[in-house]
Amino acid sequence: MIPHVLPTYNRAPLAFERGEGSWAITADGTRYLDLGAGIAVNVLGHANPDLVAALTHQAGRIWHVSNLYQIPEQEKLADMLVDATFADTVFFTNSGTEAAELAIKMVRKYWDHAGDPDRTQILTFEGAFHGRSTGAIAASGADKMVKGFGPLMPGFRTLPWGDHEALRAAVSDRTAAIMIEPVQGEGGIRPLPDACLKGLREICDQTGALLVLDEVQCGMGRTGRLFAHEYAGITPDIMMVAKGIGGGFPLGAVLATEQAAAPMVAGSHGSTYGGNPLACAVGAVVMQIVADPAFLAEVNRKGALFRQKLEGLVAAHPDVFEGVRGQGLMLGLKCRAAPADLVRAAYDQHLLTVPAADMTLRLLPPLNITDEDIAEAVARLDRAAASLR
Ligand SMILES: Cc1ncc(COP(=O)(O)O)c(C=O)c1O
Repeated sequence: MIPHVLPTYNRAPLAFERGEGSWAITADGTRYLDLGAGIAVNVLGHANPDLVAALTHQAGRIWHVSNLYQIPEQEKLADMLVDATFADTVFFTNSGTEAAELAIKMVRKYWDHAGDPDRTQILTFEGAFHGRSTGAIAASGADKMVKGFGPLMPGFRTLPWGDHEALRAAVSDRTAAIMIEPVQGEGGIRPLPDACLKGLREICDQTGALLVLDEVQCGMGRTGRLFAHEYAGITPDIMMVAKGIGGGFPLGAVLATEQAAAPMVAGSHGSTYGGNPLACAVGAVVMQIVADPAFLAEVNRKGALFRQKLEGLVAAHPDVFEGVRGQGLMLGLKCRAAPADLVRAAYDQHLLTVPAADMTLRLLPPLNITDEDIAEAVARLDRAAASLR
């Protein structure tokens, strides 16, 4: 008999009742050190008092009104995002997938408005993950995501990762946009070198194509900058954000320049829940804390500390690990055996990690993890690795 919850996940036999900072706690009180943070979502850890206060304060006032009306909490968060980034305008969604959908629609509308409605080709890259909607799986092009779900939405061409010649050959006056994650998350913590991101910006400037960055996983302080593209000193035309921006409350956003977004006039897009007062009240506090340069400096310091310890771990277990990659607190351990085995071995050490493609184990702790918890995490990873022998 099919389970009452549609079985689309291979779930671990673990359930958590509550959380405290970087720790998730089961009903019997067992504490797990959480290096997954709900897959890069809980940027301020579990039950952060500032976020709990923001949510409960808003919960006692008003939960939902609809975008038929002004939503002051939404306007406040949009102001904060516009002040802190390249963007001139923001649309709020409930997830990263919805942000990807709007980004695709915005690209199409942009070229339609420019009098070139057939300019619809969006270039994407192998290993990309933009979500699970029909548009987002077409953008990724990966067999495991698209198989059985055809016909796929047309208009995407997936290029090999890091192949400059393939990219140059693919770009034409039909290229509507280039869509890419500055650091691939699901693809295995694969950072795009700054020079490549600069190169993509140049190609877009030369051809008029829009640069669409998916910072759903790598954004909101994860890499040690508010957004990962800042390292390359470039700005996109459109950017998807989600995960960390709500600190655990469902919230996503599309940020865009005025030029890219101008054709998205009244009636062209909408969402019942997108930008609801609860989500935006929480999001504003997340932004206030995470966008603070002092907080981001700490993410960098902790990222360097964690990375240094992980290099030691790799050296101690050359039969298990191949290397460390990533930036800030978006780290990956390239494994020699299936990362899922290591994830299971880590459960036995009461440590939560996340597998990714390209034989990579993802380490995505809360951005405010303590130095002690970083040391504890590496000690537990060490025991997990040893147990695989
Ligand atoms: C880079 C990226 N884009 C989009 C998504 C989809 O986001 P969501 O699961 O919130 O729909 C994800 C989720 O993992 C992601 O990592």
